[in-house]
Amino acid sequence: MRNIKDFLLDTSIYFSFDQSGFLRHAKSFEEIPQDLSGLNALITGANAGIGYETAKSLAMRNARVMMLCRNKEKSEEAYQTLKNINPLTQRYIVDMSDLDSIAQLSIELPTSEKIHCIIQNAGLMPQQYAQNKQGLETCLATHIIGPIALLKKLHKDQRIDQHTKNIFVSSGGGYTKKLDCAAMFDYSEERREKYDGMQAYAYTKRAQMVLNRIINEKALFDVRSYCMHPGWASTDGVKNAMPQFFDFTQQRLRTPAQGADTVIYLASRYQEDLDTDGIWFDRVLRNDYLLWGTKETQAQREEFFLRIEEILNTNG
Ligand SMILES: NC(=O)c1ccc[n+]([C@@H]2O[C@H](COP(=O)([O-])OP(=O)(O)OC[C@H]3O[C@@H](n4cnc5c(N)ncnc54)[C@H](OP(=O)(O)O)[C@@H]3O)[C@@H](O)[C@H]2O)c1
Repeated sequence: MRNIKDFLLDTSIYFSFDQSGFLRHAKSFEEIPQDLSGLNALITGANAGIGYETAKSLAMRNARVMMLCRNKEKSEEAYQTLKNINPLTQRYIVDMSDLDSIAQLSIELPTSEKIHCIIQNAGLMPQQYAQNKQGLETCLATHIIGPIALLKKLHKDQRIDQHTKNIFVSSGGGYTKKLDCAAMFDYSEERREKYDGMQAYAYTKRAQMVLNRIINEKALFDVRSYCMHPGWASTDGVKNAMPQFFDFTQQRLRTPAQGADTVIYLASRYQEDLDTDGIWFDRVLRNDYLLWGTKETQAQREEFFLRIEEILNTNG
């Protein structure tokens, strides 16, 4: 039970998403099991920041970690470090914003064992407008279409089943937006000219929260899906995308390992111990709608799902 002081600090956001928030919440954390042998976990964006810390922690706990990284050279050091920690570690080169690259991955993955946990961590806040080979804007492609294409492919190839957990690493930035298909699926010249990467990021992070609910409601791909946000962690992603925010909050940011804590917690637990309807933050399931007017209607949810299906159907 939270006391009034905790309630006020959590409501402030600043003293909740920051490191002091983590340390305060962590007082009630139990130790995550040291031995996760037998767990097969696939992590996108596993070579840096929160994804790397998640991969490292799971590898140290004897899990088989499948690192999905988009760049061979850039991810080499991270891969070698984790392979030294745990020889079961594997690495696959995949661009999560590219549907062709995702289709290729499933062919390369070992067929012998099921994947128990998919951590959809790859993410970015672009500085300028860019689109993938299929013509989709980068945030939409990386945060929404890529992850769902990955699930679809793994399901088709029977690499996942009803015991698999899908975990979206979303963002508190998503709280500020309402699901908006017009904003996300806007291919106009005007949008390209006036492109705002922070807005595109926030819309697609809200969309991850909604997609999480859709996957569970429609029982898509047999998996159970979970959504979390890490608070504010000191990573190159934040430093490069939001230098002013980084400079201002630097002393207060969480370490990447603290940002990864809830992902590792979710990965280590059984499905039946974890509720799905909301967003996990510091190991507690929280409301995914904090601001008035940010809840989508069922019709908007259905429209979003149809748009995704259309893209997946068009691109095989
Ligand atoms: N740090 C925070 O405070 C914070 C707060 C809220 C949410 N998050 C979320 O946490 C996740 C990780 O962020 P981070 O702060 O750890 O960022 P980061 O340090 O920039 O790491 C991002 C990772 O994603 C990878 N990635 C990006 N686009 C990719 C693509 N198309 N295909 C494959 N991999 C791709 C990057 O690969 P490269 O190394 O090749 O670029 C990198 O490994 C993101 O989803 C972000 O939205 C972070």
